[in-house]
Amino acid sequence: MSDQGDQHPGRGGDGAPAGAGDGALATGTRTPMPLPVARLDDPHMQPAAKHPKTAERLIALILLGGVAGVAAFGACYWQDLAPWTLGVSLGGGLLLLGIGMTAWGKYLMPKGPFVEERHLAAGTPEERDAMAAAVVQRTGLVFRRRGVLGGLLGAGLGIFGIVAIFPLLRSLGPLPGNTMEVTNWKRGSRLVNQNGRPIHVADLAIGSITTVFPEGYQNNTQDQAQDQTVLIRVSTEPVTTRPGREDWSPAGYIAYSKLCTHLGCPVGLYEQQLELLVCPCHQSMFNVLDGAVPEFGPAPRPLPQLPLMVDSRGYLRAADGYDQPVGPGFWERTTKNLS
Ligand code: FES
Repeated sequence: MSDQGDQHPGRGGDGAPAGAGDGALATGTRTPMPLPVARLDDPHMQPAAKHPKTAERLIALILLGGVAGVAAFGACYWQDLAPWTLGVSLGGGLLLLGIGMTAWGKYLMPKGPFVEERHLAAGTPEERDAMAAAVVQRTGLVFRRRGVLGGLLGAGLGIFGIVAIFPLLRSLGPLPGNTMEVTNWKRGSRLVNQNGRPIHVADLAIGSITTVFPEGYQNNTQDQAQDQTVLIRVSTEPVTTRPGREDWSPAGYIAYSKLCTHLGCPVGLYEQQLELLVCPCHQSMFNVLDGAVPEFGPAPRPLPQLPLMVDSRGYLRAADGYDQPVGPGFWERTTKNLS
């Protein structure tokens, strides 16, 4: 119970670590650093209680009660007394022991604070240089001793490095060239439906929509993807969707790329009452009568418009190709007629 004269296990009489000599770490390449030495006259080692002696007596009484309780439990158990006596004696004894330990820790233990001095974890520049030199030297020795193995290992790693480039060279497919910039639509291309049937100017009623392709390209999947165009008839008279497009929509036929300018979904839904083309993927809405300018949704730019003309036999043809790339934008795409 006394707080005087206790000795720490593993320490010498002055509190220094056993065998450490003068309270210091073993010397070597490390900078010696004295260990903190606990002394009972250190202010940090003083108990928290204002009257330690009184606290000690009280705690001793509590612990004594705990000892009596567990001893009584043993006696009751030995005498095979009633169960409640076992519960009361054991519960009371453990409770008092717990209270005593808690009070001891709270009022009689050194209050601190304690700071542990530590040496720098990083080595000195000389140590780091020596370490690097040793690694290089040992590695060289190891490889010189097993030259054949080292050569084989180096060859394996080198070939693996070359093979790792193969996916970039071989598996990404052919270079796209200008296929992302142009379609098969050109001046004179006749508009045909999915079955290859040419579209006559009398084919669609007002408010109708169909998908068309340039004649000769509708059976190729890749061509279908980039050439697909929605053809809408909104009137029997020519329509001007934007300034400069006065002759692009003869007999009320308007043609736009079917590739959404957001992520490339086919824009195949037509809301006739509002004259909107709707993309089913993220609900972008394009104004049919205003150059397919997006009015809602994430699409960043209008659908490119295909200029049309009617030939001498009454069939619809492209007056020119698209004047800008179709489909989603990408970082190096130059766009025209955005507004
Ligand atoms: Fe058309 Fe997203 S792909 S709105």
